[in-house]
Amino acid sequence: MKTLISAAAAAGALLALASPSMAADASHGQMLFKTQCGVCHQAGEGDGDGGQGPSLKGVVGRKIGGDENFSYTQVMMDDKDKWTQESLAAFLENPQKTIPGNAMPIRVGAPADRADIAAYLATVKAAP
Ligand code: HEC
Repeated sequence: MKTLISAAAAAGALLALASPSMAADASHGQMLFKTQCGVCHQAGEGDGDGGQGPSLKGVVGRKIGGDENFSYTQVMMDDKDKWTQESLAAFLENPQKTIPGNAMPIRVGAPADRADIAAYLATVKAAP
């Protein structure tokens, strides 16, 4: 019986490791967004009125470089992919490495913070 319980616990721990996005904390992500991103980007109500960067309302599922009201660098417009929660988190680790030549100047060092910000952005829908 004891082995069964510890095997189940080990499986649970593995599952937690395998899916970090499930553990991501969107409300912590919003707090980070307000302090680190809102100066340049708009997302949810009251996050900041940043106009230097594209709007991030509904960015998950949107084409990279897809805010029609923003003049992106050519590399962003040429990128045909759509953002996912995972690719956003990866981008934030080092935007220049992910899409060389783009103009997004901020890096987010901690993996948990990147996951939280991406989880938050997934909750912000595009304006109808
Ligand atoms: C100093 C201003 C500035 C700050 C601060 C900033 N960004 Fe950006 N960001 C930009 C600019 C400018 C672009 C457009 C880059 C381009 O056209 O090459 C951009 C692009 C992006 C994109 C791509 C959007 C799209 O439509 O494809 C994402 C996602 C993004 N930023 C997320 C963030 C997050 C999350 C933060 C906070 C951790 C942040 N940015 C902080 C200026 C900023």
